[in-house]
Amino acid sequence: MRKPLMAGNWKMNLNHLEAIAVVQKLVYSINDKDYDAVDVAVLPPFTDIRSIQTLVDGDRLRLLYGAQDVSPSANGAFTGDISAPMLAKLGCTFVVVGHSERRSVHKEEDGVINKKIKATLAHEMTPIFCVGEDLSVRESGTHVSHVIRQMRAGLANLSKPELKKIVIAYEPIWAIGTGKTATPQDAQEVCSAIRNEMEEIGSREIAQDTRILYGGSVKSANIAEIMKEADVDGALIGGASIDPEELAKIVKFHQST
Ligand code: 13P
Repeated sequence: MRKPLMAGNWKMNLNHLEAIAVVQKLVYSINDKDYDAVDVAVLPPFTDIRSIQTLVDGDRLRLLYGAQDVSPSANGAFTGDISAPMLAKLGCTFVVVGHSERRSVHKEEDGVINKKIKATLAHEMTPIFCVGEDLSVRESGTHVSHVIRQMRAGLANLSKPELKKIVIAYEPIWAIGTGKTATPQDAQEVCSAIRNEMEEIGSREIAQDTRILYGGSVKSANIAEIMKEADVDGALIGGASIDPEELAKIVKFHQST
């Protein structure tokens, strides 16, 4: 069975001192039963990662963490970028790749996203590969084919062992930061299409093992309903993940199942 993953994408929020306080509050509210039932991760800004690594290592926390982006290159003249070997050295488990805010604000296209996924895998970290349609695509009714096209491009030329390591996050852009959550049925429709596509490009076994997350206005009040859907294996949580008590409540959705 796929273990649920609840990953908090802090986006550009919380400096390293605030990060320490938030992680301490979060782990205070989560116990071994929660960690046995759910993988819990935070995805802070780069400047917080070292502080979080120190906390996690020092207190042997079961909390996982990762980065929100990565350079496709390992080193060199790329001012402002952070490489996969640097993130691996900081103990990152995950790297978010292809978030819609990277695609829209930083004009990231499928080709560079594919390279970032490969760079992440090459350094033994797990990409959380984001796909999702904007409102105009949703209204035109072509959201499933749009997401499948993004998937094929992002995962192009990956070997089966590499495909096996990917986490996919379906984040409909119209539901991000808007308070407008997709219905559980909307999430299920696309997540199940993503799983079918994983079977096409990988294998049945890979498809069955792949964790597919939903993201977009997730909070403690709606997580349990979303998690009832067969192909939703967790959530990528933005705004609500900055509040440690709210994130802990989201993690505890498993108590209601
Ligand atoms: P919100 O939860 O704030 O809608 O953000 C979702 C998201 O983009 C997570 O990556």
